[in-house]
Amino acid sequence: MTKQQHFGWFLARGFGPQGWGHPYLDWNYRWTEPAVYQQAVRELEQAGFDLLIIEDAPSLGNASTIDLRIRQAFGGPKHDPLLLAPYLFGATSQIGIVPTVNPAAYLPYTAARQFASLQHLSGHRLGLNVVTDTGSARHFGAADPLSHDAAYDRAEEWLGGIRDLWHSWGDGGLIADPAAGRYADGSKLNAVQHRGEYFSFDGPLNAIPFTAGDPVIVSPGGSGRGLGFAGANSDVQLALAPLDAASVRDYRAKIHAAAVEKGRDPRDINILFAIQPVIVASAEEADRLVAASANPDAAAILNIAERQSSDLETDLTALDFDAPLDLSVFGDHVSQGSIKRLLGGYDPATTPLRVLLGKQAKLGRIGQGGFVGTAEELADLIEDLGESADNDGMLLWGDLHPVTVHRMLDELVPILRRRGILRSEFGGGGLRANLRDF
Ligand SMILES: Cc1cc2nc3c(=O)[nH]c(=O)nc-3n(C[C@H](O)[C@H](O)[C@H](O)COP(=O)(O)O)c2cc1C
Repeated sequence: MTKQQHFGWFLARGFGPQGWGHPYLDWNYRWTEPAVYQQAVRELEQAGFDLLIIEDAPSLGNASTIDLRIRQAFGGPKHDPLLLAPYLFGATSQIGIVPTVNPAAYLPYTAARQFASLQHLSGHRLGLNVVTDTGSARHFGAADPLSHDAAYDRAEEWLGGIRDLWHSWGDGGLIADPAAGRYADGSKLNAVQHRGEYFSFDGPLNAIPFTAGDPVIVSPGGSGRGLGFAGANSDVQLALAPLDAASVRDYRAKIHAAAVEKGRDPRDINILFAIQPVIVASAEEADRLVAASANPDAAAILNIAERQSSDLETDLTALDFDAPLDLSVFGDHVSQGSIKRLLGGYDPATTPLRVLLGKQAKLGRIGQGGFVGTAEELADLIEDLGESADNDGMLLWGDLHPVTVHRMLDELVPILRRRGILRSEFGGGGLRANLRDF
């Protein structure tokens, strides 16, 4: 029997003006209004997707490089996805909605209360993508950002505190029996006195208990500490890794080991592998696109330089593209991982910047390390990862413009359904239950 898998969509640049400057934005893509997201999320639900994850960063980044981030709208603005969630819940009845949240931005009691309210309002369909980016510390009163690992420690304390608050109504706390003449029993509530390294607060929470489990916890961190966080806390891990069976098996083994180390059952974590496919009508068209991508024109190179300038918070567009890249242009705040990805194994001392940028444009065929192909080819890859690496599911990556959603799903969904990989109905028990259906 073909292995059934879970499917998610990652709204990759958050609740913002994604695609700004593209002609399709003129087609009534009013990103500040709910309609475009509501239309898309209905279609994702109809397609059998379990969840929509909304990326976020609460900051425009480093104070001195804000212009680079917003010039082409690559790094912001972004509105708060937590507040978009109720509009999406209201437009749907089955799919899970997962806003990204950063523990730096919410006090645990406020967070526990807001998340509990949304979990109830949505019929237990809330998930939380917990991230630990420290670049926004200055907006929240912190003199210095926490270190990478300390931010994870804080996130664990934050989440633990929130869970204690969610469970502060012990068994029998809620009675709600008119015949007994009693709504609740205060003696069954746990006071929750949290005195930790990062937070100090008292409970209990003034929200009633959940009937279908806590909100689902999602995590995307890929470092050793990030995987440890997932092993201890997550119901869903978002994985960025090469999409071959060996890499998928390897990544899954690491998460499973981290879960076992924390005394959890590895089957309780669904690992979704991120992919941004370019689905085309024929193998010939795919070959043509891949061949053309090897020779990007000047406009494509400039677009990549602008995007990289936003991500790296360093103005690459002001540099000579035909000279080697002097690494001293990057300040200390720039992620080493992002610089490494730009270099892509080339020696910066001898490689013109144009070559490094051009490499970012290079596409590959599905099954050969790339993502360009037909819907059948993508379905083959997904099926193979399920069969040979026991993969739990995929996370399709993109904006929510109707063009993007339809290009990605129109052909793929019926093929996955026919093969028994993608669900065609939901049980109705909320996101946690849906993730446990298979
Ligand atoms: C699929 C995926 C989604 C992510 N979404 C976000 C996000 O919405 N906000 C954010 O600040 N970081 C996001 N990240 C980045 C991670 O939170 C994290 O910073 C990055 O993976 C590095 O983690 P590490 O330091 O544990 O390796 C995402 C990463 C991946 C792979």
